Amino acid sequence: MQDNYRREIDYLRVSVTDRCNLRCFYCMPEAGVELKGCNDILRYEELYKIIKATTELGVSKVRLTGGEPLVRKGLIDFIRDIKKLGIEDLAMTTNGTLLAKYANDLAKAGLDRVNISLDTLQAKKFDEISRTNHSLSQVILGIKEAQKANLNPVKLNVVLIKGVNDDEIEDIAKLTLDNRIIVRFIELMPLGESYNWAEKKYISIDEIQEELNQINNLIPAEIDQGNGPAKYYRFSKAKGKIGFISPISDHYCSECNRVRLTADGFLKPCLHANNEFNIKEVLRTGVNDKELKRIITDVILNKPEKGLGIESVSDFNINQRKMSQIGG
Ligand code: GTP
Ligand code: 5AD
Ligand code: SF4
Repeated sequence: MQDNYRREIDYLRVSVTDRCNLRCFYCMPEAGVELKGCNDILRYEELYKIIKATTELGVSKVRLTGGEPLVRKGLIDFIRDIKKLGIEDLAMTTNGTLLAKYANDLAKAGLDRVNISLDTLQAKKFDEISRTNHSLSQVILGIKEAQKANLNPVKLNVVLIKGVNDDEIEDIAKLTLDNRIIVRFIELMPLGESYNWAEKKYISIDEIQEELNQINNLIPAEIDQGNGPAKYYRFSKAKGKIGFISPISDHYCSECNRVRLTADGFLKPCLHANNEFNIKEVLRTGVNDKELKRIITDVILNKPEKGLGIESVSDFNINQRKMSQIGG
């Protein structure tokens, strides 16, 4: 369906949990965020009802996010259930640490593909970023198992952080030479933990694109599965592709096709706006399917034209939810 600005909204991002087994320093405080109680989080039956209603309204692409979605028990059965709703593109964004264990079951249950966060190829640095031990080897295994299970195209999300991983851009981009993988560089957004320092550690996509272009010509490439905000290129003769996501320097509000559902039951029509709708309350006070669809239609119609503070990093709002609560 279309919103009031005639944008086709066909992409729902569902955060199934605010919990995570990592503590990436730009995302979560070391001690973790204050966790919601079980009753504050949408139950699977409730998630199912909302997803069903949105698919009937035209959503064809659903992405499960977190926190880390794979820490929620029962997720595989849930995926099997929602896939039956006829979702064309059912994807997940994950930190990859548990993927080696679950990749096969996820694929069998009907998950089409995964995007995996990977900010560094250096084990020690990975542990420093994620404030855990020995996680990189698990993620690398997870990537391989996901590819074997055909959760393809596997995309790697690399958040650019000055002084942290800018020395590895080439190495990470070169993974695409011999691998049928998509590496995507993402501009750091001042959300949650990074609010106070994101501006200092920000690197623009333009800089990175120029750097990569100098080592090997970047040729524009067609969009793979998914129609998120990335723009795609490839090195000549490379098997994989390189994507650039620039939420700060070149925002994409006019082409935005998505709406989000937070783990605690709020429909969020824009990542950078605070007008959320408490759909959990509506579900728990009793609502029929027709009324639920009317409410969701209303939220979508009123999706803001653009996000707050999107024109400049310093305009971002400190009261925004943390990334782990929205799911990216
Ligand atoms: P594909 O369907 O594979 O293209 O995935 P995607 O890029 O839509 O999803 P993913 O979860 O991998 O998101 C990658 C990055 O893009 C994350 O850092 C998101 O926060 C960012 N992103 C996704 N959607 C939006 C959006 O609507 N606004 C902004 N500002 N950033 C977004
Ligand atoms: N800015 C940009 N991307 C972020 N992510 C998490 N926090 C931020 C941030 N502050 C990314 C993760 C993941 C995706 C869902 O969002 O690395 O790949
Ligand atoms: Fe977890 Fe992702 Fe946040 Fe890292 S960025 S702490 S993996 S939710």
